[in-house]
Amino acid sequence: MCLSETLHLAADISFIHTDHLWKTPGSWQGYQYYGPDFYKEVTRIAHRGRFDMLFFGDAAETPEIYGGNFDAALRHGIRWPKHDMLPMIPVMAEASPNIGFGTTMSTTYHHPFHVARVFSSLDHITGGRVGWNAVTSAYKNEAANWGYDRMPSAADRYDRAREHMKVVTDLWASVEPDAIVMDRENGVFADPSKVHLLNHRGKHFNVRGPLPVIPSRQGRPVIIQAGQSPDGMDLAARYADLQFVARRSLDSIAAHRAELDRLLVKHGRSPRDLGVLWLVRVQPGHTKAEAMEKERRFLDSLPPNAGMIELSFHFGIDFSVLRPDMRLSDAAELVQAEQVHWGSFLEIIATEGPETTVEEMGRRFIGQRAAHVIGTAAEIADRFEEIHEAGGRNGGIILSKNFAAPGTLRDFIEIVVPELQRRGLTRKEYAGTTLRENLNT
Ligand SMILES: Cc1cc2nc3c(=O)[nH]c(=O)nc-3n(C[C@H](O)[C@H](O)[C@H](O)COP(=O)(O)O)c2cc1C
Repeated sequence: MCLSETLHLAADISFIHTDHLWKTPGSWQGYQYYGPDFYKEVTRIAHRGRFDMLFFGDAAETPEIYGGNFDAALRHGIRWPKHDMLPMIPVMAEASPNIGFGTTMSTTYHHPFHVARVFSSLDHITGGRVGWNAVTSAYKNEAANWGYDRMPSAADRYDRAREHMKVVTDLWASVEPDAIVMDRENGVFADPSKVHLLNHRGKHFNVRGPLPVIPSRQGRPVIIQAGQSPDGMDLAARYADLQFVARRSLDSIAAHRAELDRLLVKHGRSPRDLGVLWLVRVQPGHTKAEAMEKERRFLDSLPPNAGMIELSFHFGIDFSVLRPDMRLSDAAELVQAEQVHWGSFLEIIATEGPETTVEEMGRRFIGQRAAHVIGTAAEIADRFEEIHEAGGRNGGIILSKNFAAPGTLRDFIEIVVPELQRRGLTRKEYAGTTLRENLNT
C-alpha cells in the first residue's frame, strides 16, 4: 500500500469538536457546531499541507464508565456528542480534489453486506478517496446501544471480524472492473460472466452476493485496521492496506513493524502491502518557548480528573474507584479482564514502567497517551524522521487526538510541513486523485 518511502500524513479529526477542545483557543471559534463549514475549512487546510487523509473514528455511545454514569462525559464535553460523520464526507470532498477520508464502521455491529455497499458507494461519490477503518469496537456502552446485554469478548469480536472482512473483500471482488460494457449498438449494459455470486455460508453471516455496486476508480476502498493485540495484528496482516498504531518508543515501533512483516509473509503478502501510520501528538511553535506555552495553556484548561476520565473510557474500568497510588502493573489484571484495548495498556506499561502509579499516568494521559512532540519545526521533523526510519519508511504519521482545529492544524501546516518538505520526507504535490494512488506514491 505504501510502495514508496514517502512520509504520508493523516490527521485523526474524530474528537476535534470535543474532548476539552471546545473551549481551547484556536478551536471551533466562529463556526456552527458540527456544521459543514468547519469540516470544509479543516479539509482545505489539510489540502494545503498535502495530507493524504483525514480520519474519523467512531463509537456510537455516550461514555458511562467513569463514576458509573455519563455526568463527567457531558459536563466536560468528552467523547460526546458523537455524530455519524459518514454523511459529512461527500461535503468535505468538495473542498479538496485530492485528500482522502478514512471513516469507521464496526465489524461487530454492522453487517458486511451493508459495509461493502455503503463504502463502495461512498468511494464512487468521492472519486476513489475512501478508506474503511474496520474496528472490533471495545466500548461497553456501544454494545448496549446495539442490543447486547454484555459486550462480546475480544476473542468473539475478532472471530466475527475475520469472517466479516473476508465477506467484505469478496463482495468488493465480486464485480470485475470491466463488467460494465455499455455497448449501445448491441444493447448490452454489463457482461454477466464478469459478475460473481458469493454464496457465502459461515458461522456469523450468510451472503449470496454479488455486490450490486461496480468497482470505483481506486478499485475498492482502502482498508484500515488499528488493533494492537495479537488478534488485531493478525487481522491487519490478513486484510488491511493501512494500520494506525499507537507505539510510544522507537524500539517498540521497530518491534511492531518486524512482527507485522512476519505476519504479512505468513499470510502470503509482502511488507509493502501494509503501511503503518504511527500516532503522534504535536504542539508546534515558532520557538520552543511558544510551543511549551501553548501546551501549558491547554493542560491548564483541563479539569484535574481529565486523564482519569479518559483512562476509564479507554480501558473499560472505572479509574475513579482505584487507589491513586496503585501501580499500573497491579491495575493490569483488572484491565485484562475487561478485554478492552489490552494491547495499548501493555504498551503503556512497557514504556512507562510497571511502577508508575495510576495517579501519575492520569496526570499525563491526555497529553502523552501516544508519542508526542511539543516544539519547533526542526524538533517535530526530527522526531517524525526517527519514527519513519524505525518503521522501515513504510507509511507515515497520523496526528493523534487532542489538537485544536483549525488552530493547531493550521500551525502544523504553516510551521512544520515546509520543513518536512524541505527534507524531502513529505511531498510537495499530490501524486494522484485517489487515496490508493497517493498512498502508493
Ligand atoms: C488511531 C486509532 C483509531 C481508532 N479508532 C477506533 C474507532 O474509531 N472505533 C473503535 O471502536 N476503535 C478504534 N480504535 C481501536 C482499534 O481499532 C482496536 O479496536 C483496539 O485497538 C482494540 O484492539 P486491540 O486490543 O487489538 O488493540 C482505534 C485505534 C487507533 C490506534
